[in-house]
Amino acid sequence: MSRILVTGGAGFIGSAVCRHLIAATPHICINADKLTYAANPASLEAIADDPRYRFHKVDIADGAAIARLMADEDIDAVIHLAAESHVDRSIDGPAAFIETNINGTYCLLEAARAHLERLDAARRAAFRFVHVSTDEVFGSLGPEGSFGEASPYDPSSPYSASKAASDHLARAWQRTFGLPVIVTNCSNNYGPCQFPEKLIPLTIINALSQKPLPVYGKGENVRDWLYVEDHARALVTVLERGQTGATYLIGGRIEARNIDVVRRICAVMDELHPRPGGSCHADLITFVADRPGHDLRYAIDPSRIEQELGWRPSRDFASDLKSTVEWYLNNESWWRPLLEAVYDGRRLGLGGRVR
Ligand code: NAD
Ligand code: DAU
Repeated sequence: MSRILVTGGAGFIGSAVCRHLIAATPHICINADKLTYAANPASLEAIADDPRYRFHKVDIADGAAIARLMADEDIDAVIHLAAESHVDRSIDGPAAFIETNINGTYCLLEAARAHLERLDAARRAAFRFVHVSTDEVFGSLGPEGSFGEASPYDPSSPYSASKAASDHLARAWQRTFGLPVIVTNCSNNYGPCQFPEKLIPLTIINALSQKPLPVYGKGENVRDWLYVEDHARALVTVLERGQTGATYLIGGRIEARNIDVVRRICAVMDELHPRPGGSCHADLITFVADRPGHDLRYAIDPSRIEQELGWRPSRDFASDLKSTVEWYLNNESWWRPLLEAVYDGRRLGLGGRVR
């Protein structure tokens, strides 16, 4: 049993990691989150009162606060997810991405390094820092091939450049200071509790409201989809059994063009929530101006984590996309307040500054 610090645990993937730690492991979960616009404490309701779960509102870029937290909670391991995560927002306002993703990661690495020095030899040997990153650091693929652990970095957006910088910092702290870092790069996640700025929840919620469904460019960009609970399980597997200094690529081998993902959601909506008047949800699809710097295709080769750690994506895209649609239909109380108070569904990422 370890005392695991999860940063960004009130976000989409972080909340799935916290729920997984409590439901499926004996570990203690200490969630440190700044509670930005992207956080939703409702994602943690199921575990909020569990004696093995604790929440701290803290900014990872506040080095003193995060160092204090690591000492007070006597941390054994870190799963670092806290980040500004939305590519379109990074185009409108890169500053927060530099501050959290780069400076925040630096502060966290420094706090972990100082904390490690205070631990006895056995706990120091067992300490792990899992740095959670993205396939976007590798830039765009052409029509063939996939990303592997040795793929060169070639980020296109302020978001992916800031994540690339954080990956480099994490590896440097491992090589220079001996911090036991493991880096993971994952593909696009989908599932419950994703903030409605992202393609899948935005499409579901717009379809429900009979609003246009914006598809950037021609909809031919390809993303590789992974159910969020599979990612959470992969991260805990890496924490428990991964090799220090290693990189693991995580993905579900589910490549799909954006237009096909949106059409699938429309078909599910036609079945579960037919439009008044009998027309199809696909009639709402609207092609809009492309995202600047839009990467054409991502694809992950997850062979290493499969072969070395025995992790497998367990899910089926068609049925999980359907259950994701059902989740949004059944959990309006989770997303409706966000639309009213935080994000109204407007187009982001065309360069109009938001902050
Ligand atoms: P998210 O935007 O849903 O959640 C991010 C969380 O981090 C929020 O709860 C937010 O409050 C918190 N946070 C932001 N700045 C903070 C700060 N300075 N201090 C403390 N907390 C802060 O993001 P997500 O989609 O859950 O992504 C989590 C991580 O996984 C990110 O590092 C992201 O780069 C990575 N990732 C995401 C995906 C994906 O498809 N969503 C895929 C691969 C990797
Ligand atoms: O690949 C991993 C990344 O996946 C993570 O690192 C990011 O944190 C996460 O946000 C996600 O990035 P994307 O940019 O791929 O996700 P998004 O949902 O914003 O867009 C998915 C695709 O859909 C992308 O090609 C852009 C397109 N898109 C997006 C929106 C919001 C549309 O066509 N229309 C839209 O309205």
